[in-house]
Amino acid sequence: MKIRLVKPYVGDDELKNLEGVMQRAWLGRGPLCKEFEDKWNEFLGVKASTAVNSGTAALHLALKAYNFPAGKKVLVPAMTFCSTANAPIYCGLEPVFVDVDEETLSIDIEDMKRKYDKDCVAVIPVHFGGHPAKMEEIVPWAHEQGLKVISDCAHVVGGMYKGKRLGTWADISCFSFQEKKILVTGDGGMISSNDPELIESLRSIKEVGMSKDTFLRFQQQERGESIGDPLHWAYDVKALGYKYNMCDVIAAIGLAQLRKVDYIVKNRIDTLNKLLKGIEGLNHIKPAMPYDMTLAYYDFMVRLSSREVRDQFIVYLQTHNIATGVHTMPVPHFSYYRQFKADTPVADRIWEQYVILPFYVDMTDEEIEYVIKHVKEFDDALKPVSKKR
Ligand SMILES: Cc1ncc(COP(=O)(O)O)c(C=O)c1O
Repeated sequence: MKIRLVKPYVGDDELKNLEGVMQRAWLGRGPLCKEFEDKWNEFLGVKASTAVNSGTAALHLALKAYNFPAGKKVLVPAMTFCSTANAPIYCGLEPVFVDVDEETLSIDIEDMKRKYDKDCVAVIPVHFGGHPAKMEEIVPWAHEQGLKVISDCAHVVGGMYKGKRLGTWADISCFSFQEKKILVTGDGGMISSNDPELIESLRSIKEVGMSKDTFLRFQQQERGESIGDPLHWAYDVKALGYKYNMCDVIAAIGLAQLRKVDYIVKNRIDTLNKLLKGIEGLNHIKPAMPYDMTLAYYDFMVRLSSREVRDQFIVYLQTHNIATGVHTMPVPHFSYYRQFKADTPVADRIWEQYVILPFYVDMTDEEIEYVIKHVKEFDDALKPVSKKR
């Protein structure tokens, strides 16, 4: 048996939608992007969204929407993908790395308050692995200080937290539909907010700043509205924009994924439940966070006692054809980010103990049992070592 780490839940529904795109012979940003945005609004329960070509682009634009003066600071958790820290840097702002909470792996509230100073303009909490950051504490505190909250929801689709859907807590929320995510389009992202004007301000910027997009001009030509107008092509560029728009090929996949999102979320929770039950009570290998079955998780992550044991575990699983992953080192550990001062002792210490195990929709019972069997075998083999200590 060979077990993949992740596997997007795609098939005939996505193919059918893609066939429609080919038949219409319009592949760029068009009607499907708008439909995807509308359906996403309904699903999430927000007033407005704009579809982009990655979660990274979503974070950049969401922060850009506020036009903060260059040199200001943004609070960012140390344990995240580097895109969270890149957003402030792209905007000429400084990321201030905040330590993480050992239990949830999300931003540590006390350290966030310690690192805050009057130059901070925003905070970007991340729901790491799908476990919610403590939004009920972060949002009111941030607003009291006059900070904007930009939520990095790359690991979240469908989770309810304290009766409110994740992705609706912050001033603006950013999603990713990249290959490994819960809802997958290959690459893609969404920016959502209950402030429609904020989202509206991004529509032209995400399309290189053009005042009139290509599809609109195509439609006008199709309807014959531009006949006799030699300037039918004319558009202005009023601001520096980026080529960040989604296209209909990706939106077609997204729409198919969104139709089955309830199944995706439910199936993942059932699978996660089986995996967690299977490793219950092990001596050395523990769930990485307090998994809550009312949420929607991105990773199945476990924690071992040290880097040495974790790395042995990875190699052991490799020899049994079970794929593993390590989501990330703390961002300040990557060479580029060493220029930003970071005092994050918890993240520095704990990241080496984590490993991600296979977890995807429609994982068979046989696959689940195969993974559990080998996790248990490794845990058992560690017993004598721990007794000697
Ligand atoms: C926490 C987090 N934020 C942002 C991103 C960026 O998303 P994308 O790959 O769609 O650009 C990722 C991607 O893995 C992520 O894990």
